[in-house]
Amino acid sequence: YSDASQKIDYVFKVVLIGDSAVGKSQILARFSRNEFSLDSKATIGVEFQTRTLVIEHKSVKAQIWDTAGQERYRAVTSAYYRGAVGAMLVYDITKRQTFDHIPRWLEELRNHADKNIVIILIGNKSDLEDQRSVPTEDAKEFAQKEGLFFLETSALEATNVEDAFLTVLTEIF
Ligand code: GTP
Ligand code: MG
Repeated sequence: YSDASQKIDYVFKVVLIGDSAVGKSQILARFSRNEFSLDSKATIGVEFQTRTLVIEHKSVKAQIWDTAGQERYRAVTSAYYRGAVGAMLVYDITKRQTFDHIPRWLEELRNHADKNIVIILIGNKSDLEDQRSVPTEDAKEFAQKEGLFFLETSALEATNVEDAFLTVLTEIF
């Protein structure tokens, strides 16, 4: 199944969004290459990675797009969201402000993306429990109210990263 010549049944575009430094690029590095770097550089423009996996006996190519959280490095918004069937809305559990900005990211998503897009809210850096500033319950409540999936992840420890992608990809499916 890891044979590169395998037949692809579906290609799903998924976008990562959220403030700068919440860990979007490292979540993607963990999912696509099982790698992690502590001195990750801020993303400039748009990057993407793919990974092919088997879901319900079909091969699904996940094409994950990653952009800059910093406004000045962001690419044209509408192009970024075009064709996306899934979105991961990421904040950092140790930085309250990154959670407080989630409604803005959600609004941008709802203004530019397809209305049936599958969205998961992700509280990243769950390994830094001693520095937590966003209670799990607050995020869970917000996600419920907005109809989003929700998981806390750690790209560093590889906790729930696979699950987060599978949640979105399976739901799209
Ligand atoms: P922009 O590209 O500027 O939007 O930032 P980003 O959201 O892509 O953040 P990035 O992945 O570059 O990570 C920012 C910093 O957080 C880096 O130093 C990462 O090593 C660190 N980081 C990312 N994920 C985790 C995690 O799960 N735990 C911990 N402790 N650090 C993390
Ligand atoms: Mg980045």
